[in-house]
Amino acid sequence: MALRLIFLGPPGVGKGTQAKLLAADREIPHISTGDILRAEAAAGSELGRQAKEYMHKGELVPDELVVAMVAQRLARPDCRAGYLLDGFPRTMAQATALEARLAERNEDVDRVLYFSAPDEVLVRRLSGRRTCPECGAGYHVEAMPPETDGVCDKCGAKLVQRKDDMPETIKNRLEVYKAQTQALIDHYKTAGSLIEIDATGAVDEIAEAARRSLET
Ligand code: AP5
Repeated sequence: MALRLIFLGPPGVGKGTQAKLLAADREIPHISTGDILRAEAAAGSELGRQAKEYMHKGELVPDELVVAMVAQRLARPDCRAGYLLDGFPRTMAQATALEARLAERNEDVDRVLYFSAPDEVLVRRLSGRRTCPECGAGYHVEAMPPETDGVCDKCGAKLVQRKDDMPETIKNRLEVYKAQTQALIDHYKTAGSLIEIDATGAVDEIAEAARRSLET
């Protein structure tokens, strides 16, 4: 049976790290709107060019652009077996658009996993994040350092720090999350599909809690 999941939570809580693990475990595509937008920006597409301005400031990319982009991705054949949406929806307008699409197809979201952690944990995780621009592997300078400082263990490329992981932009991203995304927690709580996961612990403990939450 198809499994459709949403990962919700503040910037830096570890959604992407957990999404990669669970999507691989359940053999469903991991659809991260942040990753798709960064790939579009790197490719220099029209969407990427428009998105970049918002992303660098820590603002949300306009709903109509993101909704169209996700609709295109969900139309691909690999989504028939389900999918894990990471970082989408992020506004009520995006949630409404997703619900309309699901209703048209008589489909439903099985679970919304809401990952939570205090702001100081988020800031520490975001400030120390490093990523590989070649293979997409993720690291943290303290919690998950590469074997050789600044070099990807998997492909040997030089690791980079995301532009939106600078202190001022982190501050704005946390404010934008509180103003525009936090309302979705109540929305999905009311719908009965929300499961909160404490994301302050170690990666494997959180992964285990996420796996278990699908068994209930
Ligand atoms: P996006 O890329 O989605 O960023 P985000 O939601 O802010 O989330 P992050 O990717 O920063 O964090 P994460 O929770 O995935 O944490 P991670 O696993 O990497 O979006 C970027 C931008 O794109 C947005 O600001 C917006 O402009 C635009 N955008 C995207 N989607 C949009 C949408 N739907 N609508 C409009 N605009 C949109 O972990 C963080 C760090 O912590 C890593 O270094 C990791 O190694 C480390 N870590 C993870 N888990 C642990 C742990 N348990 N213990 C210690 N360290 C850990």
